[in-house]
Amino acid sequence: MSDNNSYPVRADIAQQAWADETTYREMYQQSVVNPEGFWREHGQRVDWIKPFTRVKDVSFDYHRVEISWFKDGTLNVAANCLDRHLDTRGDQTAIIWEGDDPADDKQVSYRELHEQVCRFANALKSQGIRKGDVVTIYMPMVVEAAVAMLACARIGAIHSVVFGGFSPDAIAGRIIDCNSKLVITADEGVRGGRRVALKKNVDEALTNPAVKTVEKVIVFQRTGGDVEWHSHRDVWWHELTQLASPHCPAEEMNAEDPLFILYTSGSTGTPKGVVHTSGGYLVYASMTHQYVFDYKDGDVYWCTADVGWITGHTYLIYGPLANGGTTLMCEGLPNWPDSSRMSQIVDKHQVNILYTAPTAIRALMAEGNAPIAGTNRSSLKLLGSVGEPINPEAWEWYYKTIGDERCPIVDTWWQTETGGIMITPLPGATALKPGSATRPFFGVLPALVDNMGNIIEGATEGNLVILDSWPGQSRTVYGDHERFVQTYFTTFKGMYTTGDGARRDEDGYYWITGRVDDVLNVSGHRMGTAEIESAMVAHEHVAEAAVVGYPHDIKGQGIYVYVTLNAGIDDSEELKKELRQWVRREIGPIATPDIIQWAPGLPKTRSGKIMRRILRKIAADECENLGDTSTLADPSVVDNLIADRANRR
Ligand code: WT7
Repeated sequence: MSDNNSYPVRADIAQQAWADETTYREMYQQSVVNPEGFWREHGQRVDWIKPFTRVKDVSFDYHRVEISWFKDGTLNVAANCLDRHLDTRGDQTAIIWEGDDPADDKQVSYRELHEQVCRFANALKSQGIRKGDVVTIYMPMVVEAAVAMLACARIGAIHSVVFGGFSPDAIAGRIIDCNSKLVITADEGVRGGRRVALKKNVDEALTNPAVKTVEKVIVFQRTGGDVEWHSHRDVWWHELTQLASPHCPAEEMNAEDPLFILYTSGSTGTPKGVVHTSGGYLVYASMTHQYVFDYKDGDVYWCTADVGWITGHTYLIYGPLANGGTTLMCEGLPNWPDSSRMSQIVDKHQVNILYTAPTAIRALMAEGNAPIAGTNRSSLKLLGSVGEPINPEAWEWYYKTIGDERCPIVDTWWQTETGGIMITPLPGATALKPGSATRPFFGVLPALVDNMGNIIEGATEGNLVILDSWPGQSRTVYGDHERFVQTYFTTFKGMYTTGDGARRDEDGYYWITGRVDDVLNVSGHRMGTAEIESAMVAHEHVAEAAVVGYPHDIKGQGIYVYVTLNAGIDDSEELKKELRQWVRREIGPIATPDIIQWAPGLPKTRSGKIMRRILRKIAADECENLGDTSTLADPSVVDNLIADRANRR
């Protein structure tokens, strides 16, 4: 990882970019010296119904954490993404949809999208949904997923999108937590030629007796596959929208009214419902989308993220549409029917900007030149990366093979909680170093602190914190502000704790080193170790489980589980298989353990705390250097685990 391997800004890009280096420096300076003035000016980029007079009302003091932006302004997010473009670009394509089947695609104009959203907004109203109600969306990657989100925004309902890969139990938990009144789903999804039983999963989730609030389920017909029908509750999308009027006024929302809830894993407990509000979120989403991707009118932009993740919210839907952009939505996988699919799509739709994840890049990289076979990708101008640290080898491959050494790469660091990109290069302003997310976006004040919370300066390594608020920041955890405060504002007082570690080099560039808490990043998906552990111990044969991450070539991190069985239960390969299946059913396929090792005992301190540090080392085969083991209650446990590594799988 050489800091000297740097790619200077290309002069021709700097010349026409939204920000060259001087502009970046000036704007950044202004944004941190005078945030009120900066955001008062840039807050104008969205259309307000009632203009704001207040800009920023923020306290990071853990006694009274309060975060508000533009708080006396009113607006409607959907109107900003649709209505305001109709006069100037009504016939322009808003969404290019590419089906799982390469022969399947369509283009939806702003005018068409506006009409679909209005119809569906009326459909939601006809099912009793009002401003402030929570609607759960469990959809495949179809245009209707975007329509559903924007329709909620239009009438002031709060959407909670649940990733289509989550299990019935996970859906149920996410419905119960936010008292959702309605679920929007599809009969089946289609990915990599296979069908995914979405409606069936929702049916099963709703059999959970603790789900008490769901009155209706709206079902979009994607495949026409067989579904069970509960006529008191289930309604077809197409029947509702046929009847609905295409006119629907946009609800006037306060800047601080919630726009959506998105569940994400933390180091403890069940997933948290991260709340994002309307005004600040949209300002930040649209501004980052414009500057980071150097988005210009007419560009075709493709973010490969699923709508079930924050990237799919901010950079598939809200950012690009607020900017009047053309956003490509792909139903399928980047390597199906074969590894050239991603490049084929780039050529087919003349994609200019491609934003994807290191795990996808590494999976393609393993195929050599096959991922670009028969394609030229000459439309590409810019590449983006998100979700986990990108290793320099994958960066170089992305740069050389996909981008033909022509396209800058923006390695964007951010989180569900940050709403938008925080640390990133700007293509016209920042010299690139493979593996570094480089420098902060406007208004972002990153810092490194030691474990005592002291700010450390210069070239150093530490815990990454953010010292002041930015408009896209999450405001609270749904229904549990105390948990929000505990999670993000008490570890290091007066600062936002990211949970990531980072290094800062001599040029002030940030290199994210990964999570410092008990959160895993598996293929760019966040998984709490506690969540997987509690799924494991729910199995009748499991006494105790400890989950750690270990380095994985494609996924970044793999899931490694140490399992202690109940007395009298024999271990077997059969049982390992059953436990894997069990976790898939409890949480979803993304939580499937990669390696299970039987652990008759787990390394604990004398007070009974599991020493994960040691388990991580054993999982990574770094057994020579286990660090301080003097607090272990029973050192022989560790020797046994090391000796028994051969039997893990
Ligand atoms: C965690 C947040 C942000 C959208 C997708 C993930 C890791 C994210 C990078 C990057 C290094 C990254 C961090 C962060 N992460 N982007 N460019 N370089 N690490 O959102 O599920 O909330 O996960 O993903 O560890 O804390 P998320």
